[in-house]
Amino acid sequence: MSGPIQSPAAPTGHATFRHFPLNAWYAAAWDHEVGRNLLSKTIANRPIVMYRTTKGRPVALADACWHRLAPLSMGKLRGEDEIMCGYHGICYDADGRATFMPAQETINPSATVHSYPVVEKYRYVWVWTGDPALADPDLIPDLYMNDSPDWAGDGRTIHVNCSYQLIIDNLMDLTHEQFVHGASIGHESLSESDFEVTHTDRTVTVTKWMLGIDAPPFWKRNLQDRFPDYEGPVDRWQIIRYTAPSTVAIDVGVAKAGTGAPEGDRSQGVTGTVINTMTPETDSTCFYLWAFARDWCLDKQVITTRLREGVSGVFFEDEVMLEAQQRGIEANPGYDFYNLNIDAGSMWTRRAVQRMIDAELGTDVEETTEKAADAAVAMSSATEAANAADANGATDGGTGLGAEVARDVARHRTQPTAGLMGRGF
Ligand code: FES
Ligand SMILES: [Fe+2]
Repeated sequence: MSGPIQSPAAPTGHATFRHFPLNAWYAAAWDHEVGRNLLSKTIANRPIVMYRTTKGRPVALADACWHRLAPLSMGKLRGEDEIMCGYHGICYDADGRATFMPAQETINPSATVHSYPVVEKYRYVWVWTGDPALADPDLIPDLYMNDSPDWAGDGRTIHVNCSYQLIIDNLMDLTHEQFVHGASIGHESLSESDFEVTHTDRTVTVTKWMLGIDAPPFWKRNLQDRFPDYEGPVDRWQIIRYTAPSTVAIDVGVAKAGTGAPEGDRSQGVTGTVINTMTPETDSTCFYLWAFARDWCLDKQVITTRLREGVSGVFFEDEVMLEAQQRGIEANPGYDFYNLNIDAGSMWTRRAVQRMIDAELGTDVEETTEKAADAAVAMSSATEAANAADANGATDGGTGLGAEVARDVARHRTQPTAGLMGRGF
């Protein structure tokens, strides 16, 4: 439909993770999914129909006819770039303007449907769901590895019955690999080793190195693609790079231990990038577009297929947990998550998302930012505070978020079965 885009309802208390900005590029589909057929998708609660013109330009229109709101995706393509409503035959061009009306010669100039800004980049078709005047293609997250000749890889789209934010949480804290993915990429060093969190307004980076460890099965196999005889220990890295609102590119890999990878020499190792971009479908469902790009044995399709299938299996384990977590959330309305120090990265992502939402809604960015900054400072001192609490033998002293985090950490040390995400989950 034409006219200004409505913003979603203001956040309601606890459930900020259910909301998403509209002034954002979301990966609507892989490039090969958009063609000379009608693809119907809900993105950010907006029904959208996508197709390509005969010249190859991707188009995204509101999937609701101006006349009586019949889904245009039930119509058909006509001519070079037009779509015809399947109900009474109104035709629209790629800009959403009506070009034909049945049984009348004049065309009502108000007869339009919203045409979403679209950009095809890094093998994805990105749709801007907010104010078209703000749709700057430079805001698309840098995922160049997905179509660079220096990398090889492939991926898939998963439809997940959970908020997109839960997937961001999942990716910003990879200690879950030890518990969810124990058979493939998990390793006890994941939750034992320190990590560092840095951020800007739009980005968050979590860096973790695990030095001199046994390679988990997934990485042992990958390293042996390049160094078939190597059986020794490895230095492993996970550098998680988030770009608001919903893209996470993870630089992962292993190198022969002690060959200089932490200092930047990866010549004795293998590097991958796990590309993840999440597109909210509704408040509680999303599309998860992922790919695994590698820098070794680029011409070996057999490795591309092995990695794609392997990562698919790993992500299925996440999907099961995330959908169960979403059900837990819906069964406990009003519940506030507890936070552990492992949640520091995801808390910064929530801050970045909240800033975007605040900017759209015209709410008090500074106030929200101040609160988020307080929370983040509390997070960064969580381990220290927990240690102090342990040392004092006290688990309930103090007030404020810092003290709450400290109590959570202490509680999980004394109640190891309490679970990673706090009570109930
Ligand atoms: S509903 Fe589309 S032409 Fe009538
Ligand atoms: Fe996972």
